[in-house]
Amino acid sequence: MNINQNYNKLEQSYLFSTIAKKVADFSAANPREKIIRMGIGDVTLPLCDAVVRAMQEAVSDMGKKESFHGYGPEQGYDFLKNAVAGYYAQRGIGLDNNEIFISDGAKSDLGNILDLFAVDNTVLIPDPVYPVYVDTNVMAGRTIVYMDANEENGFLPLPDESVRADIIYLCSPNNPTGAVYSHDALKKWVDYALGNHAILLFDAAYEAFISNSELPRSIYEIKGAEKCAIEFCSLSKTAGFTGTRCGYTIVPMTLEAGGASLNHMWLRRQTTKFNGVPYMVQRGAAAVFSKEGQMQTRAAIDYYKENARLIASAMQKMGIWYTGGENSPYIWLKCPDDMTSWEYFDYLLTEKKVVGTPGAGFGKNGEGFFRLTAFGDRENTAEAVKRLLS
Ligand code: MLT
Repeated sequence: MNINQNYNKLEQSYLFSTIAKKVADFSAANPREKIIRMGIGDVTLPLCDAVVRAMQEAVSDMGKKESFHGYGPEQGYDFLKNAVAGYYAQRGIGLDNNEIFISDGAKSDLGNILDLFAVDNTVLIPDPVYPVYVDTNVMAGRTIVYMDANEENGFLPLPDESVRADIIYLCSPNNPTGAVYSHDALKKWVDYALGNHAILLFDAAYEAFISNSELPRSIYEIKGAEKCAIEFCSLSKTAGFTGTRCGYTIVPMTLEAGGASLNHMWLRRQTTKFNGVPYMVQRGAAAVFSKEGQMQTRAAIDYYKENARLIASAMQKMGIWYTGGENSPYIWLKCPDDMTSWEYFDYLLTEKKVVGTPGAGFGKNGEGFFRLTAFGDRENTAEAVKRLLS
């Protein structure tokens, strides 16, 4: 019996599990301390009314013979695909329902999409980065080439023609840095991908946090992307679905690689390995795109953005360099006093009882940086800011 030895090349545990364990240990040793969690980007506001009502109705549908639903289409119900297509249409992006695949979130799809690509492809990944891109490729045994995201390039690396890659990950607004690519910069990536027969895996999970209308929220706002890009999106951060689980992946019909349709391959993969998202969840997800749902989710996003503003203003007062927080729910800051990111993590946890995410957990360029999330509730965020300033 041979196991997949690539697992031995991974860190001992997934970044956010390591943090959760450290916090649980501290909490057990200091049961009286109130710890404020600004580590994992988990939402705190409840689902909005429109979603709750739609899900309640859907539960009731499931309890009646005439409206009961068994297995649904693996790639999602048309009522939700129509809603997603309508959302993209508002930005002038035309999608066919067959190009939209409903899933239980971006994380699963970002990992599962790798089934479509041979192991000998080279993967290009920005550093720092959401650890899932790296870990899933390490598990598969793929060669990873890193591109530096740093202060010099505003944490937005551009293509380097001397580097050859087959699969390229981009995340904008970026997790963890909060940096957002412009149209021009994304055009460079699309041109690079087209010129090198590479595929862009574009993570748009934080698109709803972009308030600057000049910035692109989908890779398909860039001409040519429909021939080289797959887009992953999620309702986790947009509509508080971290515990409800629903997202969508766009695989254009025009996207081909090695003479094959990636759309057909993904359909084949999903129909074989996935039985779809629960009907009740899809009903709730569709309500996110209703007029009422859009208004209510927008209010939640504005609430988190106000948290981001509070955190950012604390950084300014403390004279700490930071970026992000404007078009993203993350504040990316430079650890004070030349602390390493894990030193700053320990300092904040033990001295301020505030949890954040050490930048080093996102890659070598994250060393010396730290991420705070704006997804907390207002009271806790204000309390954390007070503690930071004290
Ligand atoms: C994060 O904190 O980076 C995210 O919440 C993780 C995720 O979306 O899986």
